[in-house]
Amino acid sequence: MSFAPSPFEWILIAIVLIEGIAIKVISRHWNSYRRAKREEGRGKPWALRRVPAETVDRVFATPAPKLGHTVSTEVAFISIGQTAVVGAPSDYESWILAVLARQSSMMFEFGTCTGRTTYLWARNSPPGAKVITLTLHPDQLDTYRRGANDRSEDEADALKESAFQTFVYTGTDVEHKVVQLYGDSKAFDHRPYQGRCDLIFVDGSHARSYVESDSQKALQMVKPGGIVLWHDYRGPHRSGGVFHALNALGSKLPLMQIEGTSLVAYRAPL
Ligand SMILES: C[S@@+](CC[C@H](N)C(=O)[O-])C[C@H]1O[C@@H](n2cnc3c(N)ncnc32)[C@H](O)[C@@H]1O
Repeated sequence: MSFAPSPFEWILIAIVLIEGIAIKVISRHWNSYRRAKREEGRGKPWALRRVPAETVDRVFATPAPKLGHTVSTEVAFISIGQTAVVGAPSDYESWILAVLARQSSMMFEFGTCTGRTTYLWARNSPPGAKVITLTLHPDQLDTYRRGANDRSEDEADALKESAFQTFVYTGTDVEHKVVQLYGDSKAFDHRPYQGRCDLIFVDGSHARSYVESDSQKALQMVKPGGIVLWHDYRGPHRSGGVFHALNALGSKLPLMQIEGTSLVAYRAPL
């Protein structure tokens, strides 16, 4: 007795297989759509105003939109390519950071990590500029001070990223522009930098108590007309500490999320 399927049965088998694959593909897309919606606060707009980069600084305006950006935004750049570089801003975010360095003499970064942004700042800033960058040394992990409402994942990420002692800028001809500081940012004495910084990047621990502490310091360190940028404003479910801390701060200050990025910006009044 033979069990070979008839041509009609083959067609049925093929239909069932194709249907199975289609259901899998659709449900994968549906799940990622739902996850994205959840991260965005279930369709509710996020608290911070979303603006194009040119609202933060006129240098990003495109006088002839069809030609795109002009040479005033030309920078020396290293792409992250297709590598998953730990903690790294996207290429578009890095380009924004690098362009802003062109007009900055005093820059401060909370969270060095690989030193990519540090390097782009040192490379693209005017001669004589200084880039101060603060990070937790791998031997200082026990100085980390978790806040009562911080998520344990944020603490774990912060400690995991505190693994670097040599950086992208190390050994380059712009290293002399960099001042590398080590220590826990809650213990950092920011007073010597008060009102002196043109550009500040808050990108240290993403735990809420740290984002709050670093932000308070950054707001005192920025000089009139200077810019503070934060990284990883990605909704309540990814880097929730950044999201909640910045939404709360945004009810007091005109913070702006830069379109197409996870950067948030604040321009200090003149
Ligand atoms: C997201 S990475 C920074 C990425 C970097 N700004 C860049 O643009 O490539 C976070 C950095 O914050 C540092 N960090 C975490 N907790 C810290 C703390 N309590 N004090 C100082 N630095 C901290 C980590 O060591 C890590 O280098």
